[in-house]
Amino acid sequence: MVADSAGWLIELATCPSTNTWALEHADALAHGACVWTQQQTQGRGRGGNAWKSPAGVLTATFVVDVARGLNAQQFSLAAGLAIAHAVEDLEPKVEARIKWPNDCYVNDRKLAGVLCESAAAKGRDVMLIGIGLNVAPEWDRSDPLSTSAIALADIVGKPPSMRALLASLRRYLLEADGLITANGWRHLLDQLRERDWLAGKSIRLESNKKSADGIAVGFDEQGRLLLENQGKVAAYSSGTARIAHTASRF
Ligand code: BTN
Repeated sequence: MVADSAGWLIELATCPSTNTWALEHADALAHGACVWTQQQTQGRGRGGNAWKSPAGVLTATFVVDVARGLNAQQFSLAAGLAIAHAVEDLEPKVEARIKWPNDCYVNDRKLAGVLCESAAAKGRDVMLIGIGLNVAPEWDRSDPLSTSAIALADIVGKPPSMRALLASLRRYLLEADGLITANGWRHLLDQLRERDWLAGKSIRLESNKKSADGIAVGFDEQGRLLLENQGKVAAYSSGTARIAHTASRF
């Protein structure tokens, strides 16, 4: 383990998962700390899925003391905004979008995924914000996932160093946390709605063995996805949203 001179960056040569490492060390990790590794061997994604990443993907977990009552889903969306800001700083012509509940998309392809987990640290409400961001990945082109993904190198040509990116992500995450603490999470809703990649699309939301169909019409104040079907709007707190590839609307 190497602690950076800046004091907030903990670099691990390798580890199973930066989120798991941060969960195990949450008591000792200060607000604003970042656990980063170049080689994650058992990365975790949303919904208990394994999450594999080749070299060239930024894999890091940021530690943020959060306002009481804030849920991981709300912070996933806030983290999506932080990623969008960091990317747009590098290339202002890019429009980064947020795909509920935890992805950042550019040009209709996935640039980054977020796994937020609450941790029980002594006397503090801590959110661990795991980010996997495709910087300049060595893709295995036979992997179908690589064709639905995009890398920062495709967007900006020569991406900045991982350390510079980590500093920018951290800055925007702490800024989001400050805004939420001062004004409440719902004050992010306007920004989120502007960047909502699902908005207006016909989707099928799949969760365990259940599914729900509808047109995505935004998020509510708890960060739930709103789906409209036959004039009725319902809110969903979990699931994977897939675009319906039929001409008909629900
Ligand atoms: C997803 O797309 O389902 C979320 C992927 C989150 C991956 C990141 S990589 C850093 C951190 N450590 C993990 O094990 N997962 C997150």
